[in-house]
Amino acid sequence: MEAYEAIEKRRSIRIFKQGVSEEQLRKIILAGTKAPSAGNRQPWEFIIIDDQKIIDQLAETKYQQNRRMSPRKGEGQDEVEQNALHQKKSFQNASIVAVCNKKGDAPGAWLCIENMSLAAVADGLGSVIVSYWGNYKEEAEKILGLPEGYELTSVMKFGVPGEQGFSRDKNPFTPRRPEFSWLHKNRF
Ligand SMILES: Cc1cc2nc3c(=O)[nH]c(=O)nc-3n(C[C@H](O)[C@H](O)[C@H](O)COP(=O)(O)O)c2cc1C
Repeated sequence: MEAYEAIEKRRSIRIFKQGVSEEQLRKIILAGTKAPSAGNRQPWEFIIIDDQKIIDQLAETKYQQNRRMSPRKGEGQDEVEQNALHQKKSFQNASIVAVCNKKGDAPGAWLCIENMSLAAVADGLGSVIVSYWGNYKEEAEKILGLPEGYELTSVMKFGVPGEQGFSRDKNPFTPRRPEFSWLHKNRF
C-alpha cells in the first residue's frame, strides 16, 4: 500500500472482531522500530500482553480513569459512564501491545506508535491508541511491571476492524480543523 493511502485510511478503531497472531504483532512492532530516534538511541520497549488477567486489569484501570473525566460539551454524567464502558469493552477481541519509553529521553516511542498504526492499515488491520494519565498511568505501569527509569507511553490495540471509525469530518471529540488553518509562514 502506498504511504499516503495508509495515512488517509488510518482511523482509530475501538471495536474489533478478532485479534492477530503474535507473528503479525511482531511484524508491526518491527515496523515501529524503524522510526527515527534522537541520537539513534531507540528509547522504546514493547510489551505484548496476552495474559487475560493483565488485559482485564488494564481495561478496568482505563474504565476507572475515564469515568472520572469531565463531561464534554452537551453531555452529562451518563454519557461519561457510557464512554468509559466503551473504552473498557474495546479491549475485547483485540491484541494488546504496551509501548514504553526510557524516562528523560526524547519521546521516540510516539514515532513507533505512528509507524505501527500505519503498518496495521497496510496489513488490513485496525488499531487505537489508549492513554493513561496521573495515578492511573502509575497503576498501569505497576500492572505491566515497568522497571524504574521507564514510562508507559501508550497501550495499543490491534485487530480485525469491527467498525470503520469516525469519518474525518464527524469526530465527536473535536471537529477537525480546516486544512491549512494551522499553517504559518516565516513566523507564527
Ligand atoms: C495521544 C493520544 C491519546 C489517545 N488516547 C485515546 C484513548 O485513550 N482512547 C481512545 O479511544 N482513543 C484515543 N486516542 C485516539 C484519538 O481519539 C483519535 O486519534 C482522534 O479522535 C482522531 O480520530 P482518528 O484517529 O480516527 O483519526 C488517542 C490519540 C492520541 C494521539
